[in-house]
Amino acid sequence: MKFLKKNENTERYIDNIFSVVKMAKADKDGINATAGCLYDEEGKLFTYKCVEKADHELTAAQKAAYASSPAGNDDYRKAVCDFVLEGKVSNNHICVASAGGTGAIYLSVKTCLDEGDTIICPDIAWGNYKVIAAENNLRMLTYDVYDLDDMFRKIASVDSKIFLVTNSPCENPLGYAYTFEEWKRIINYLNGLHKETILLCDIAYIDYAHNEPKKYFELFNDISDDLLVVMAVSCSKAFSFYGQRLGAMIAIHNDLSFLDLYENLCSRLCRSTWSNLNNPGMHTVVKVLNEYREEYEKELSDAKDMLKRRTDIFIRQAEECGLEYYKFSDGFFVTLKMKDNKVRDEVHQKLLDSHIYTIKVNKGIRIALCSVPYAVTDGLARKIKEIM
Ligand SMILES: Cc1ncc(COP(=O)(O)O)c(C=O)c1O
Repeated sequence: MKFLKKNENTERYIDNIFSVVKMAKADKDGINATAGCLYDEEGKLFTYKCVEKADHELTAAQKAAYASSPAGNDDYRKAVCDFVLEGKVSNNHICVASAGGTGAIYLSVKTCLDEGDTIICPDIAWGNYKVIAAENNLRMLTYDVYDLDDMFRKIASVDSKIFLVTNSPCENPLGYAYTFEEWKRIINYLNGLHKETILLCDIAYIDYAHNEPKKYFELFNDISDDLLVVMAVSCSKAFSFYGQRLGAMIAIHNDLSFLDLYENLCSRLCRSTWSNLNNPGMHTVVKVLNEYREEYEKELSDAKDMLKRRTDIFIRQAEECGLEYYKFSDGFFVTLKMKDNKVRDEVHQKLLDSHIYTIKVNKGIRIALCSVPYAVTDGLARKIKEIM
């Protein structure tokens, strides 16, 4: 097409989420279960007091300055890396700041995959993986999130390099988390492949998970030389920092000289893409982690409790009234199970007609309990069942 590069993807980009979100926001009396952000019990976006306090303490110069390097300020990279890994990874690793978790996924895809390569993703997943695959002219294969044998079959069907995406715990939209035993099976399988493999662990929501969500990081201390583990870290969720566009990419590998090269080429990619990142945002995160840690942990724990109360009651009532949902462990969303996408579309429309705003996903309807106060969540499952 005129003006555009040879392989530009000219398919029209339509963001289905934002159109429903807009409708939900316009309907003041409706139930808005569309958002991907945590809201408080008053229906306002949840923000951390300690984050606000740290932000207020920044100087005008800190707010105005460029960051110190394209790969992020050193103190930010260290603080975030320590916060995420919690000392569980003794294997070699590097950390590069990114524009949210999305930026970390972008860095790994851009640096590891050629056009025509395959990206292997969960079958019910965050819609942006598809957009990223299309944008980079990648083939996309999907695996059943709940069936590791299916994951392994899909991996085995790829001739070229393996690029596997996982989103556990708090999978968006299913809320599923692999157990430690399941992680052991995954890492054992990948270790035994003897073939170049990139494992992208999207841990965007990990801070809201219960039951030792980071224990599986220990498994990265014993990986094959053919395996590169990349973690996509999001400050959007961890610090309610959605609009600040901060995150990090942590790469783990046995060979330090490769990681040195990898960090360097990621720095160049950062420089050529966003040049550098949000300097005040990085200072705020460092301050929170280094100076207000206790307050942060307390606020985070309260936020997790608030979310869990909502998901607990929704699931209990869904069980009581026979509303089918996908197996859930933790997280911002619960997803209703739909036989097929035709039925899903009908149910979704009926819910819209009843002023309940939700998001359609493959073979399901995502209920964003992160944005629905407890008082509204109580009874929501029954209401949906009746409408259906
Ligand atoms: C599964 C998943 N991964 C990654 C992200 C990235 O978020 P951000 O780029 O805001 O950090 C999101 C955001 O909604 C998500 O749902």
